[in-house]
Formats: sequence, C-alpha cells, structure tokens
Amino acid sequence: PTPSFSDYLRQHIRTVPDWPAPGVQFRDITPLLQDPQVFRVLIDAFVQRYMQRDLRPDAVAGLDARGFILGAVVAYELGVGFVPIRKKGKLPFTTVEETYELEYGSATVELHTDAVQAGDRVLLIDDLIATGGTMMAGKKLLEKLGAQVVEGACIVDLPELGGSARLRQAGLRLYTLVDFA
Ligand code: PRP
Ligand code: ADE
Repeated sequence: PTPSFSDYLRQHIRTVPDWPAPGVQFRDITPLLQDPQVFRVLIDAFVQRYMQRDLRPDAVAGLDARGFILGAVVAYELGVGFVPIRKKGKLPFTTVEETYELEYGSATVELHTDAVQAGDRVLLIDDLIATGGTMMAGKKLLEKLGAQVVEGACIVDLPELGGSARLRQAGLRLYTLVDFA
C-alpha cells in the first residue's frame, strides 16, 4: 500500500485514550466502516491482494468480533466460504480451542472441527494486531485441523507491542495497512 493510502485510512481511525483500561490507546475502526467510500476502498485493498493466483485462499477465517465484519465481506467477494473463530462458549458443534493473553486480559477462542479441511489454504483476518495473541491463537486452531494459513491480514498493526514481529517469527506472513507507533 502507498503511504497516502495508509494516511487516508489512518484519518478514519479514532483513538480513544484509556479504554477499556487505563493506559490503553484504543484504535477504533468504526468510523472507517461507517463511511461507505472508505469501507469500499478498504475491502477492495484486501480483495485485490487475495484475488491474485498465488494468494487466493480456499476459505477466509475471521476472528471474533471485528474480524467477522471484514472477513465475511472479503470471503463473499473472493467467492470462498467464511469460517468464524469465536470466543469460547458460542459455537454449538465440536470445537478445538486455544487460550492466550491479550493487551488487556486473557481469552479462549474456538473453531468448529469441520470448519476447514486438512490441506486447505486459509486467509486469517482481523481488524488489529496488538500483542499478536489473538492471531497466533487463530493460526494454531487452523493448523490443529491441518489447514495452512496463507497470510494473516488486518487493518492496523501496533508494532510497539511486538505482536507482528512475534507472528512473523512464528512463520506467519502478514499484510497490514496502517501502523500506529
Ligand atoms: C481485539 C482486536 C483483536 C485483538 C488484538 O479484539 O479486535 O482481535 O484484540 O489483540 P492481540 O493482538 O493482543 O491479541 P477483542 O479481544 O478486544 O475483541 P472484540 O473484537 O470482540 O472487541
Ligand atoms: N485490541 C487490543 N489492543 C487494542 C487497541 N489498542 N485498540 C483496539 N483494539 C485493540
């Protein structure tokens, strides 16, 4: 992405200080979703990338909850299925699960055991990488089922928290559009 595209998106992300806990600078993507023109170019950036032959996935997995908003639309545009990775206790069928630490608290996520097939190439989508724990958990769940994560995609990276570096070290390719230092 060109620097100006990053700046354009950044201008539509709101920073809320001390939410949900003191010291956290919350990067709120709702203004970006709310503007139809910005929402469209954002989705198009992902779709253009993942339409390419070597990156086209068999399925898109979205991380609860903001990853659902992006992931479902991208999957629809790519013509592939969408699978939700949900916070514990929401999925009704048999699941695999993974517990991890967040910037503020800890969480367990689940994935239906029949959500993907062994050998599937899956695109993992969320809105933001902070500590990287959520995306790492998603990667582990997909790999437990034998799938391969082609790339992790999200709008925002918070590089100072070290999450994106850790994910890359763990062998995950990442595509992110906006950094907040
Ligand atoms: C936020 C965000 C990512 C995750 C990033 O979700 O949407 O999923 O935290 O943090 P990490 O890189 O440190 O794991 P949150 O758990 O707040 O849930 P929500 O989408 O339901 O608001
Ligand atoms: N998830 C984890 N940290 C976050 C932050 N600073 N802003 C928005 N979502 C987050």
